[in-house]
Amino acid sequence: MKSSELRQSFLSYFESKQHQIVDSSSLVPGNDPTLLFTNAGMVQFKDVFLGDDIRPYTRATSSQRCVRAGGKHNDLENVGYTARHHTFFEMLGNFSFGDYFKREAIGYAWEFLTVVLKLPTEKLLVTVYAEDDEAFDIWHKEIGLPKDKIIRIGDNKGGRYQSDNFWAMGDTGPCGPCSEVFYDHGEHIWGGPPGSPEEDGDRFIEIWNVVFMQFNRSASGEMAALPKPSVDTGMGLERIAAILQGVHSNYEIDLFQNLISAAAKAVGTDDLTSQSLRVIADHIRSCSFMIVDGVVPSNEGRGYVLRRIVRRAVRHGNKLGQNGVFFHTLVEALDVEMGDAYPELRKLKERVASILLKEEEQFAKTLDQGMKILEDAISQLGDEKVIPGETVFKLYDTYGFPVDLTNDVARENELEIDEEGFEVAMEAQRTRARSASNFSMDMSGGVTIDSVTEFTGYDYLEGQCEVETILVDGVAVESIEAGQSAAVILKSTPFYGESGGQVGDKGWLRGVGAFKVLNTTKQNKAHLHQGELKEGSLSVGDLITGEVDRSLRSATTLNHSATHLVHEALRRVLGDHVSQKGSLVDPDKLRFDFSHFEAVTAVEIEQVEDMVNEQIRLNREVETEIMDIESAKQKGAMALFGEKYDSEVRVLTMGADYSIELCGGTHVKRTGDIGLFKIVAESGIAAGVRRIEAFTGKTAIDSTRQTETALNNVAALVKGNKENALDKVTALNDHARSLQKELDLLKGKMAALAGADLASQAVDIDGGKLLVAQVEVAESKELRDLLDELKSKLESAVIVLAAVNDGKVSLIAGVTKELTKKVRAGDLIKEVAPLVDGRGGGRPDMAQAGGSNPAGIESVLARVPAWVAEKF
Ligand code: ALA
Repeated sequence: MKSSELRQSFLSYFESKQHQIVDSSSLVPGNDPTLLFTNAGMVQFKDVFLGDDIRPYTRATSSQRCVRAGGKHNDLENVGYTARHHTFFEMLGNFSFGDYFKREAIGYAWEFLTVVLKLPTEKLLVTVYAEDDEAFDIWHKEIGLPKDKIIRIGDNKGGRYQSDNFWAMGDTGPCGPCSEVFYDHGEHIWGGPPGSPEEDGDRFIEIWNVVFMQFNRSASGEMAALPKPSVDTGMGLERIAAILQGVHSNYEIDLFQNLISAAAKAVGTDDLTSQSLRVIADHIRSCSFMIVDGVVPSNEGRGYVLRRIVRRAVRHGNKLGQNGVFFHTLVEALDVEMGDAYPELRKLKERVASILLKEEEQFAKTLDQGMKILEDAISQLGDEKVIPGETVFKLYDTYGFPVDLTNDVARENELEIDEEGFEVAMEAQRTRARSASNFSMDMSGGVTIDSVTEFTGYDYLEGQCEVETILVDGVAVESIEAGQSAAVILKSTPFYGESGGQVGDKGWLRGVGAFKVLNTTKQNKAHLHQGELKEGSLSVGDLITGEVDRSLRSATTLNHSATHLVHEALRRVLGDHVSQKGSLVDPDKLRFDFSHFEAVTAVEIEQVEDMVNEQIRLNREVETEIMDIESAKQKGAMALFGEKYDSEVRVLTMGADYSIELCGGTHVKRTGDIGLFKIVAESGIAAGVRRIEAFTGKTAIDSTRQTETALNNVAALVKGNKENALDKVTALNDHARSLQKELDLLKGKMAALAGADLASQAVDIDGGKLLVAQVEVAESKELRDLLDELKSKLESAVIVLAAVNDGKVSLIAGVTKELTKKVRAGDLIKEVAPLVDGRGGGRPDMAQAGGSNPAGIESVLARVPAWVAEKF
């Protein structure tokens, strides 16, 4: 059964039981600040369980997109290492809001699994919360499960109600005892039943969790009864699909196979069994859907989780030899798999791809260097098994390696990281950062400042000023000496104080000493020059020369003026609903946030750019007038978000009434000063709020030139020019693809030749041949092809092949059909894998193992004939 059919069958079954089908909600929970991501089907119903929201139905069913990465339910680190963990998955669920309870919930789950899906009952077993006799009795007496198939699990996680069978969405909120259904994938897979020491193995897999919601846990840990006992269930679509499709790993189901092939193509590998491909296929799902739901990569909260996952995916691509960007290209394959079920993905896929591309590019710049540092650090460890916290911190701080990424690499090398040491380094950094920029914090907590600084900086960037106050850690002092940090207040100043989205000026205050201004902030009407006295001394009453850093101010000013032009252009192109929600103007760029409900299209962006550049070319004078607020309103001036206006306001008019705004910022004299305007990014930052980022002046020219250089470099590489580079690259791509095909063909032929040679080394055993050999192949797929080749050549045989690549051992065993009665490949592999420090398993006719000790291969070669002989 295809995953899409399964999803439908589940919803239809519960619809036939009077459940309302409800759409999946966003991954960003709308109703819950305690939760990072929607991590279960019940999240959108949280308030209904609590009795705070009433719906027209008391039974519901859904297929909910979920992310478990970060927060209470976090599976990120397991992805790639188990058959069943994902950062993103779909949860099928049925819910009762004070309607039915345990009996029906268990009955439906059983009927759906055994009657609708026809799962063999002997493959199923269940757990119940140790104290829940009622659930135990329903399973035993009403469903008829034998007692030994019902496992009681108590508070096994160190505290009251801390149990695998007591489910809670987070530290607070609805919760209750639960009963889980497990599927036994068979003894050929390692693992034990729930509650046993081997429960972490992949043999017994939890497929359905039926939660009997009874309590609301408060922040203090108190458990209050819910208004009505309710039911919340969850079944992982991918897990149940694996069972129905006869595969063991979730990653082998239809939904994943195409994603994995697409990933293989994108990174340029043909080993479809690679763990890294699974990681990438998993991660493209979570990353894309997070972006669909409005998350963008950043350094905090949800955005940081997204960033961590993208970086982990990129690193795994890199591990497979892909040094360029690739991850964003997989959005297309994801759309093919999931776009029908999730139209929001189809609609936003271009945007998703472009955000991912940007993030990839940003990380790519430092990935290589970071990996080298990490590899060096690992090679210097010797017998040590722990990567020092300092190294982990440096990777984080300088190269953007999230800690779990470093951890991932460590784990691949059977190492650990020193998390405590990392925390120490991190704390030291925080302290440094605090002492470098704690003025504004100290100011507000310390004295009240009632000085009024006269601002001369609209017209002058330099001027003579008198020192009025000097504050050290919020305390007024008479003077400071070289080396001291302080906030200096002047009677008048050319330094613009951070406000209205424009950053504060930097520069120098020079007198008897030289004070370096690192930032200028504003408190009430005072400008605070924050910085450090580099030499000499500075005292209250000194006359000093204030020098604003001209190039920084000028670049900032161009960006501020362009912000006004773009605001108006957006209104003209997108409509009057556009209003400013925030802005940041600094020397490097301008960032403008505004209300708008969908992504701005490429065509609209061009229109906006054209309109702004036209105003620039018109080169009209920029006018400022001081007037009372009423007159300003009559003139049609737009008041800006977050600004407090006095009764007298400053009105800025650009392009002969093209744009009229109230603004206290610094601006160009004529629009032509801006030079050039170029939008470089567009994104959504919250529901209904978009952000554009743009360059002006020299930065805009530099950015255009960079793009051109990149194109020229590509053109030069393909010995072409700008005009024909695209055609040439396309042709090269086609050529590479056809070479790859030829290569695959040749590899097949070589394998056949090698097979013939090897086959002649087989020795006779009773009823067939035995072949044990070490071979040289580069990938595990080749190893399997070779095994198949040998099986068909030798007809009736037991074959064991070993290969070493990069210090890792691959073992494969094959037994032809009739011989499996005597020798099982799985048993054989289990016997010899430990000799190379490995673990493995498989079917009676084919089994594989990996190992880390090449020196053990000789023992394997020796052990196999003896072991096989014992079986005959
Ligand atoms: N909310 C329950 C879970 O996520 C069903 O396991």
